[in-house]
Amino acid sequence: MKNICVIGVGYVGLVTGTCFADLGNRVMALDINEERIANLKQGLLPIYEPGLEEMVKRNVAAGRLSFTTHYAEALAEAEFAFIAVGTPEGVDGEADLQYVRAAAESIAAHMTAPLIIVNKSTVPVGTGDWVADIVRAKQAAPIAFSVVSCPEFLREGSALADFMNPARTVLGSLDRDAANRVADLHLPLRAPIQVVDLRTAEMIKYASNAFLATKISFINEIANVCEALGADVKEVATGMGFDPRIGRQFLDAGLGYGGSCFPKDVKALAHMANVQGRHPQLLQAVMDINRDQRRLVTRKVRDLLGDLDQKTIGLLGLAFKPNTDDMRDAPAIEIARELQAGGALVKGYDPVAMSVAGRHMPGVKLCEDAYEVAAGADALIVVTEWNEFKQLDLERLRQSMRRPIVVDGRNIYHPAQMQRLGFQYRGVGRGYNGNGQH
Ligand code: NAD
Ligand code: UGA
Repeated sequence: MKNICVIGVGYVGLVTGTCFADLGNRVMALDINEERIANLKQGLLPIYEPGLEEMVKRNVAAGRLSFTTHYAEALAEAEFAFIAVGTPEGVDGEADLQYVRAAAESIAAHMTAPLIIVNKSTVPVGTGDWVADIVRAKQAAPIAFSVVSCPEFLREGSALADFMNPARTVLGSLDRDAANRVADLHLPLRAPIQVVDLRTAEMIKYASNAFLATKISFINEIANVCEALGADVKEVATGMGFDPRIGRQFLDAGLGYGGSCFPKDVKALAHMANVQGRHPQLLQAVMDINRDQRRLVTRKVRDLLGDLDQKTIGLLGLAFKPNTDDMRDAPAIEIARELQAGGALVKGYDPVAMSVAGRHMPGVKLCEDAYEVAAGADALIVVTEWNEFKQLDLERLRQSMRRPIVVDGRNIYHPAQMQRLGFQYRGVGRGYNGNGQH
């Protein structure tokens, strides 16, 4: 049992703190957002993540997990302080480190005993050293500490499973003893542990996200060629994926990547390269393809309807991916804005992201379910591949629509079946069947 403080109780911090508590440690989770902490003390979670609420309650009840807004209280017993605050996109794509700076300053001001500061936020290469400089400069009197980078690789929607069964744990520090102590915390996860220097660990995180984003842009480029030539990108991805050197994961063509991480992390990595006078051409292409990919769905709807003015368009799914309520950089926001700019009335439904979506999508009529979205619509766009959309009563859906147009941004339906049901159906890169052009 170790005493751990987690700073920042968002998607990463809450999962990290709760999972470490579940592994038998005593965790105090701190956030400067008072409302967030007050709610958590009453068992109300700030985010939707499958399985998390039950795990939080279990560990709070067992006395292993508690919440605070006070750094002094959070650090009083802590041997480890995990930083898990946000690093959003700043000016020119550079990561905005204001929250990391504030956390480092607060740690320095309130630590009273030796501490291992573990950085879980995704931060530009060199930030670990910068954090150490801040802590040293802000301490009233010198107290020993080390900074270890421990990048997080979890995905929203499967965060608990990802945290508990990681593919690897990466630790970065020149202080071998500190790295070993952080490694001990992770031993129950039984994953390979790679210990490297701080900067290399920070780069492993960016390179991993950028590589996954590259796979997505690659398959989206192939999808566009498939569409032009009459091939089916889903089958192409499956055929490619059998080769273990390629792998099937992250080869789903669609609306491009969104969310709180890939967009900002690819930009931040490109920014780091540019600042060093390098030319990140591949990263630039990945971003360009992703930007264009989102716009393709609106173009398809426009092509089918001729004109968007006064048309009613329904969005199935609003969150950036299934099993989360995260709307950060969700394609639905941009798609709705474009449709509205063309004069369309936009309706939408999401199984869990409705209250968050309402704040991000002004003018969009939020509906009770997929059937209400479809009723009277001139076209439907599948934006998020929630399971509940995969087995809808499609006959009922078609009958209630003004025009039977479905643009499937996630390729969840079978083109031939949709055509049999009487839909005008467009997938992404579905060639002959999906687009009826060949
Ligand atoms: P988030 O926005 O959900 O949560 C950040 C939390 O930090 C907020 O609750 C905020 O109030 C709090 N905070 C801000 N400043 C603070 C301070 N000075 N002291 C204490 N708390 C403070 O962010 P997130 O999605 O959990 O991401 C956190 C970091 O982890 C980012 O760097 C992100 O890139 C990285 N990451 C995120 C994911 C993911 O799936 N969301 C996965 C891997 C890595
Ligand atoms: C991603 C990474 O997968 C995590 O390893 C990483 O920890 C995290 O970013 C982070 O650094 O924050 P996440 O953004 O939660 O996780 O979700 P993903 O499942 O990776 O999906 C990201 C985006 O790519 C989504 O918009 C998704 O729809 C899209 N995507 C994913 C595709 O378009 N095609 C695919 O084949 C896979």
